[in-house]
Amino acid sequence: MKIVQFDRFGPAHDVSACVEVADPQGPASDEVIVDIAAFPINPADLLTIEGKYAIKPPLPATPGAEGVGTVRAVGSAVSDIVVGDRVIMLTRENWVQKRVAKASEVIKVAPDGDVLQQAMLKVNPATALLMLRNYIDLKPGDWVIQDAANSGVGNSVIRLAKSMGVKTVNVVRREELIAPLTAMGADVLVLDGDGLTERVAAATDNGNIRLGIDAVAGDTSLRVAECLGENAKLVNYGMLSGEPCKIMPDQVVFKGIDLTGFWLAKDLGSMSRSDAEKLYGELSSQVSDGSLSVSVEASYDIADIKDALAHAAREGRNGKILVRPN
Ligand SMILES: NC(=O)c1ccc[n+]([C@@H]2O[C@H](COP(=O)([O-])OP(=O)(O)OC[C@H]3O[C@@H](n4cnc5c(N)ncnc54)[C@H](OP(=O)(O)O)[C@@H]3O)[C@@H](O)[C@H]2O)c1
Repeated sequence: MKIVQFDRFGPAHDVSACVEVADPQGPASDEVIVDIAAFPINPADLLTIEGKYAIKPPLPATPGAEGVGTVRAVGSAVSDIVVGDRVIMLTRENWVQKRVAKASEVIKVAPDGDVLQQAMLKVNPATALLMLRNYIDLKPGDWVIQDAANSGVGNSVIRLAKSMGVKTVNVVRREELIAPLTAMGADVLVLDGDGLTERVAAATDNGNIRLGIDAVAGDTSLRVAECLGENAKLVNYGMLSGEPCKIMPDQVVFKGIDLTGFWLAKDLGSMSRSDAEKLYGELSSQVSDGSLSVSVEASYDIADIKDALAHAAREGRNGKILVRPN
């Protein structure tokens, strides 16, 4: 079978390759074998291959935080998963044609959902939903503000907030994103830059924004923080600018704004199996009914992984890059 592998840390399209290895043996009694139908290339995968992520695997390594596929064999002790089930992968190393995993490391999803959307279910929609739920008790009519609003997480925040009745202020850095994100359900679109606070105040009629969701950091987090109301939370979950998170002392001291961080791996790590099933069951049904989706720019064959990785590393994309390994 074909897998993606890298044997040194560096630019993902340079150091990664599609290689041929023996098909997996098994499954052992508590395992399943999954034919991977699709996986996305996320910024965290690129950072992992560059050696800049929180998790630095021993080399050679196979990347891939997520993926979806069809179960083609189950171990003798596995009772709740059968051959033919469609599952998402909860653990890493998924950029392969055939994946062996413990049954406890996969979760069933709808057999008829859009496979590209299901491939992206584990990371970005879950991140968006948990950030919307876990910091501020948002009620219908409340405002949140986010940057990188056209990202996979950003798309999910827009759609999930909409279904909660929560209104979104969406900060982007390209004018051409305003029309598609408005069509997606974004309430307010603003270009990042000088005067952001005043433009947001005007667009929200001085709305009290109690949650800021930041993947960019640097000067963008400073501007987003300035848009927040008293005792708001600024939740950082990304390092897209490569700059430190910035916030002025008066925002922290006088306004009582809390800067905190979100990492899905940590939340999932402390979640019970039944809570994880509930979370992904909820997201999977929203994918199936079409209310949750993330823009896709292209999908590739696994043999073209270098092109796929170079594409995923480009700025200014109009959606995610995925690979269909089978
Ligand atoms: N903490 C967690 O648990 C967690 C979970 C999921 C994702 N994340 C992080 O969330 C971020 C978004 O991930 P994703 O998969 O949703 O992204 P994505 O769909 O691949 O989109 C990338 C986004 O990053 C923006 N961007 C790239 N470089 C930038 C820069 N220097 N300044 C401002 N914006 C920049 C792009 O804007 P343009 O289109 O204008 O280039 C685009 O909006 C990443 O940092 C990722 O690591 C974290």
